[in-house]
Amino acid sequence: MRTARLALDPAFTVGPVPRRLFGSFVEHMGRCVYTGIFEPDHPSADEDGLRTDVLELTKEIGPTVVRYPGGNFVSGFEWEDSVGPREDRPRRIDRAWRSVETNQFGLAEFDAWARKVGTETMMAVNLGTRGLQEACDLLEYTNLDSGTKFSDLRKAHGSKDPFDIKLWCLGNELDGPWQTGHKTAVEYGRLAAETGMAMRSIDPSIELVAVGSSSRSMPTFGEWESTVLDLAYHAVDYVSCHAYYEEKEGDVGNFLASAVDMDLFIEQVVATADAVRAKGKHSKKINLSFDEWNVWYQSKPHHAEGVQPWDVAPRVIEDEYSITDAVVVGTLLNSLLRHSDRVTIGAQAQLVNVIGLLRSEPGGDAWKQTIAHPFEQVRRLASGNVLQVVAQSDKYESSNFGGVDVVDASATWDEETLTLFLANRDLTEPASVDVALRGFGVDRVSSAKVLAATEGQDRHTTNATGDHQQVGLRPLEDVSVTDGTATVVLPPLSWAVVQLRKG
Ligand code: AHR
Repeated sequence: MRTARLALDPAFTVGPVPRRLFGSFVEHMGRCVYTGIFEPDHPSADEDGLRTDVLELTKEIGPTVVRYPGGNFVSGFEWEDSVGPREDRPRRIDRAWRSVETNQFGLAEFDAWARKVGTETMMAVNLGTRGLQEACDLLEYTNLDSGTKFSDLRKAHGSKDPFDIKLWCLGNELDGPWQTGHKTAVEYGRLAAETGMAMRSIDPSIELVAVGSSSRSMPTFGEWESTVLDLAYHAVDYVSCHAYYEEKEGDVGNFLASAVDMDLFIEQVVATADAVRAKGKHSKKINLSFDEWNVWYQSKPHHAEGVQPWDVAPRVIEDEYSITDAVVVGTLLNSLLRHSDRVTIGAQAQLVNVIGLLRSEPGGDAWKQTIAHPFEQVRRLASGNVLQVVAQSDKYESSNFGGVDVVDASATWDEETLTLFLANRDLTEPASVDVALRGFGVDRVSSAKVLAATEGQDRHTTNATGDHQQVGLRPLEDVSVTDGTATVVLPPLSWAVVQLRKG
């Protein structure tokens, strides 16, 4: 049995749970849009061609904000192609994923989808092949009421009311040599500043995200953030972070420690942003938008067998997620919560099919992947304030990070319910976690659920086959509260959520 001790106190908080932390991402990539959220010929399709099976699952998961329309896709996207009568919209090549974009799903369709889901839109503009003018034209189209060229065009296209989008990404991953229109930090910093200021002059209420590093291992990491913020600090509100993790052959220990990398990534970007703040004598703080994160088996081929260049909606990075992946996703959510005083926006990538929380088959069924469960639980149950967690855990040795805590934790408190999100990284041993509860007055377990392998399963089990519900949450029995200490016994390799209440 492995052990850990946690101490919590309602007076020691990180800050209020930022609701935008639980976002996702819909990119025009692979089958995320076409045969993902949109499939007019599907038996479940509604009047807008939206798959209602996927829509219902999306509502259950409940992403609070959804980034759109890319990703690498956005760096070659001409938004004018995606508006107006569908029969007039052009088929265009998407260089990023070497497929054909039909534009049958565009801005108005996404706005209608987002309203049905009940989520906020986070719109990205193309700063790869395009620039300031086109970004301003798009903002005029989406946010101005009427009486100007693009606001009147929107009305003529049948959208009477503005889409009123508050959150905007100034491009995507422009630090990456793979990005169409890849830039140096100086080139991008100037462009972000000029575009941001011009966009604000159209709608001062918008919030702007500057492109940060595509991963902590980028050769320009740190220098990129520092230079971009030197040039654009006054014009933006957030800087982005992107991170994908995968299990490399024979190294599950490092994979299970992915949240340690995410912790470091966040802390290093915060330090850099705050250094620029001091140097530039700025009063505002720049917060972080972790707007692409997930497990992604990047070392495997991206395209499925048989996919040809310039296919429409090809199968691209349709990773099937296991129990191990779900535990890692649970720990990544813990990392975001632990840093939620500065990471105030998050977007898991992506929503459907493409490294998706959900999977759907053309003409067939739709289901939740294993990783959807921790995402949905944290989105539903994290409430009130995030607590500082003082943790002392048994450790294991990892090659990249040295000693790593076996038990990973985060917690929230809303004056009635204390919610613990816990993971046991040990593959074979259960972990007993004692939680010293100071000043909460909670004395009973109101709910306790766990995701772990059950009989006949192992850590590689996915939801790809059968009824697509093999891996989910089940009751966690071994939880008690006695004399101000909660004790939770976590099965080997598991993720759990435990709620404690008064009386
Ligand atoms: O989410 C998949 C891809 O990952 C996105 O298009 C890109 O921004 C990132 O590299």
